[in-house]
Amino acid sequence: MAGKLTFTMIKPTAFKNNNSGAILKIIYEAGFIIKAMKLTRLTPAQAGAFYEVHKERPFYASLVEFMSSGPIIAASLEKDNAVEDYRTLIGATNPENAAKGTIRNLYATNLQQNAVHGSDSDENAIVESDYFFSKVEQF
Ligand code: CMP
Repeated sequence: MAGKLTFTMIKPTAFKNNNSGAILKIIYEAGFIIKAMKLTRLTPAQAGAFYEVHKERPFYASLVEFMSSGPIIAASLEKDNAVEDYRTLIGATNPENAAKGTIRNLYATNLQQNAVHGSDSDENAIVESDYFFSKVEQF
């Protein structure tokens, strides 16, 4: 049975463009419940640690710079089959391949500035939620 938790960030460009409200509306209307949420700005070290798994990739330094360039909204979301359903809702990583009507299709700027992050597994959903939120911040 798939897990009920996923984790998302509204990335700096989408936040700066005032797309957060529209994105959260799509998330609510798809049946996700917000378990935790905060507006914050990552330091380069914090962004680097979050994306540690991509450390050897050529885009890592640029991704870290971008993700620490301005405020983001971090949120933990609950729904049956949360990881898979959220990945369907946001669309492909590269917005050029994101299905019509998905969050990335509607609000991404480019591959790096792709509007939102979504966990890729149940295990990472827990790791990522715990990275941002203490136990008393998760409802
Ligand atoms: P995200 O879902 O947050 O997970 C890792 C991020 O790395 C991804 O969204 C993109 O923002 C970025 N990314 C993935 N592949 C590339 C790439 N080939 N070039 C630049 N950025 C990438």
